[in-house]
Amino acid sequence: MAGEPAASVDFVPGVGLKIPRHLGVIMDGNGRWAQKRGKRRTEGHVEGVKALRGIVEHCINYGVDYLTVFSFSSENWSRPQDEVSFIFNLLRRFVASDLQRLIRNNVKVRIIGARQGLDPSLVRLIEDVEAKTSANTGLTLVVAFNYGSKAEIVAAARHLAREVAAGRLDPEAIDEQRIGDALYTAGLPDPDIIIRTSGEQRLSNFLLWQAAYAEFIFVDEHWPDFNEASFVRVLETYSRRDRRFGGIGTAAS
Ligand code: IPE
Ligand code: IPE
Ligand code: MG
Repeated sequence: MAGEPAASVDFVPGVGLKIPRHLGVIMDGNGRWAQKRGKRRTEGHVEGVKALRGIVEHCINYGVDYLTVFSFSSENWSRPQDEVSFIFNLLRRFVASDLQRLIRNNVKVRIIGARQGLDPSLVRLIEDVEAKTSANTGLTLVVAFNYGSKAEIVAAARHLAREVAAGRLDPEAIDEQRIGDALYTAGLPDPDIIIRTSGEQRLSNFLLWQAAYAEFIFVDEHWPDFNEASFVRVLETYSRRDRRFGGIGTAAS
């Protein structure tokens, strides 16, 4: 009717979406997904890998430049030994089954986290994957494996302190850029979105420094259930957010 405000138009999937440059994902809920179905937790991790393949594909198709996924935290060592070994083997299996496809899809892989404490053969595998995809120019897939953000910051502080002690760095020259450059994520833009699945609303030591201005999007689905529709819903939510970075934002200007 004339004079009445137009009805708000819902977002059409894939159309008019704001695409983040960098998406971070805490892939949580594999164990509960399995337990709910009377399966072993490890089966949830296997299904989780399928959801990972899916989100890599969606990021490529929708034009996301960087995808960082949290796949094993430095705190996850406290799980039963069997489950830890299973997750480590899953990383090896993922590389064996998916490396060629990643190369074909022009994906550059980077693995962040502590390498001390990892089996030397696993470290070699990680280096090999990085080397074989280093010339790729499409999506950068960052896998946070044996990663903990506080440990990352400690390592960066030690590195900078050593530089100062050796007389190579003036303490006054330490700024946000220098600290960023000393983190595992050096050279990557900060994440625009951090998604966590499974209904938990915490960071669990993921990208604490880098997520300073990320939009947090918590979804109830367990990670193995996260599909393209879930991905589009996240983009819709993100598109409606007003990122102000301390300013007054678009709604007020
Ligand atoms: C996430 O799923 C995967 C890893 C932490 C390796 P979980 O294994 O944490 O699943 P829940 O949270 O116990 O359901
Ligand atoms: C965070 O999930 C780590 C990964 C998804 C790899 P957790 O399941 O380990 O986190 P908490 O223990 O619930 O905080
Ligand atoms: Mg969990």
